[in-house]
Amino acid sequence: MNKVLEIDNFTLSFKIKDKEVKAVNDISLYVEKGEVVGLVGESGCGKSLTALSIVNLQPSNSKIVDGQIEINGEDVLSYSREMWNDKRGKDFSIIFQEPMSALDPLVKIGNQIKESIVAHADESINSVDLKSRIMDMLRAVELRNPELVYDSYPHQLSGGMRQRVLIALSLINNPCLLVADEPTTALDVTVQSQILKILKQMNEELSLSVLFISHDLGVVKNFCERIYVMYAGLIVESGISSDLIENPIHPYTKGLIDSIPSIKKRGKTLSTIKGNVPTLERRSGMGCPFASRCYLAKPVCYVKKLEEQRVGSRSLFCHLINLEEELERIKSDAKN
Ligand SMILES: Nc1ncnc2c1ncn2[C@@H]1O[C@H](COP(=O)(O)OP(=O)(O)OP(=O)(O)O)[C@@H](O)[C@H]1O
Ligand SMILES: [Mg+2]
Repeated sequence: MNKVLEIDNFTLSFKIKDKEVKAVNDISLYVEKGEVVGLVGESGCGKSLTALSIVNLQPSNSKIVDGQIEINGEDVLSYSREMWNDKRGKDFSIIFQEPMSALDPLVKIGNQIKESIVAHADESINSVDLKSRIMDMLRAVELRNPELVYDSYPHQLSGGMRQRVLIALSLINNPCLLVADEPTTALDVTVQSQILKILKQMNEELSLSVLFISHDLGVVKNFCERIYVMYAGLIVESGISSDLIENPIHPYTKGLIDSIPSIKKRGKTLSTIKGNVPTLERRSGMGCPFASRCYLAKPVCYVKKLEEQRVGSRSLFCHLINLEEELERIKSDAKN
C-alpha cells in the first residue's frame, strides 16, 4: 500500500470561554496513490478544518493537540514555514469552494499561473515554454478559449471557468495530492458534473490522489472509491463507497443516505436527520456526539468513550451496533 496522505489520531481544538473544545476529534484517515477519497458530513462537522490542517492553513486561534499528518511518508507537522511555502502548491495543493477568494483579483490568469510555476521551479524556464505549459493545462481543464482566459482577470470569468482555472493552478506543478474542499458546491449541477469529470480525468491520467470534501453524499458516492463520514469532529464510519452506500451501518450515515434525492424517491418526502450539528460550545466532549439526534441512543451513548470497530476496510464508531455481527447479517440477507 502506497499512502500519499496519512492522518493518525489528529485532534484540533479551540479555546472557547476558557474551555478547550475539540473541533476535529481524534480522526484517522488515509489516501493511497491514485485514489479519490471522500470526506462527507453536514455543515460544521470539521471537514474544512481537516482540509486546512493538511496544508498547514488551519486558523491561527486553533491548536493541534495530538496526532500526526504524513504526506509521502514525511511528518508535515514538523515542517518549517519555508518548507511549507516550498511544498504547498508543488507537492500538494488545495482548492476551495469559492475560487474568487483563492485568485488575486488584480493579476491576469496567465500571470498567476506563471508565478506559481516560477516560485516552485528549481531552474529558470524560458517564457515560450512557460506559456505553452500553461496553455496545455488550460486546455486540459477544458477551458474553451484558453488564449482569452490567459489574458483575463478573474472577475471577467464565470464561476465555473474560475473553478477550472483554480484546478489548473493547483495542478500546474504536478502535485501528488489534491485536497478539494467543496469545489463544486457553489456551481450549478451541469457545471458541477463537468468539474467532477475533469478531476476524475486528472486523477486517472496523472495518478493524482484526491481528498474530496463535500456535504453531499450524492455527489461523493459515484466519484470516490472510499468514503469517510464525519460528524461533529469525529469520523463515525468509513468504507468502500459501494459497501457504505448500499449498506450503511451508522445511524448518521443512514440518515445522510436517506436524505439524498433520487428518481426512486420522486414524489415522496425526503427524510432528514432531525436537529443540527451542535456548535462547539454545545459539545460535551463525552460519549458519542451524535447521541442527541440518534434514534437508537441509550444512556451509555452520552457518557462512554467511543472505540473504533474495524472489519477489513470498514470502520465504525458506535456503542450499540456490533460491526462484525452487522456485516454477517447483511451478508446473509443478501443470500436470501
Ligand atoms: N477560527 C475558528 N474559531 C472558532 N471556531 C471555528 C473556527 N473555524 C471553524 N470553527 C468551528 O469549527 C467547526 C467546524 O468548522 P468547519 O469549517 O471545519 O466545518 P465544515 O464541516 O467545513 O462545514 P461546512 O460544510 O459549512 O463548510 C464549526 O463549528 C465552526 O464554527
Ligand atoms: Mg467547510
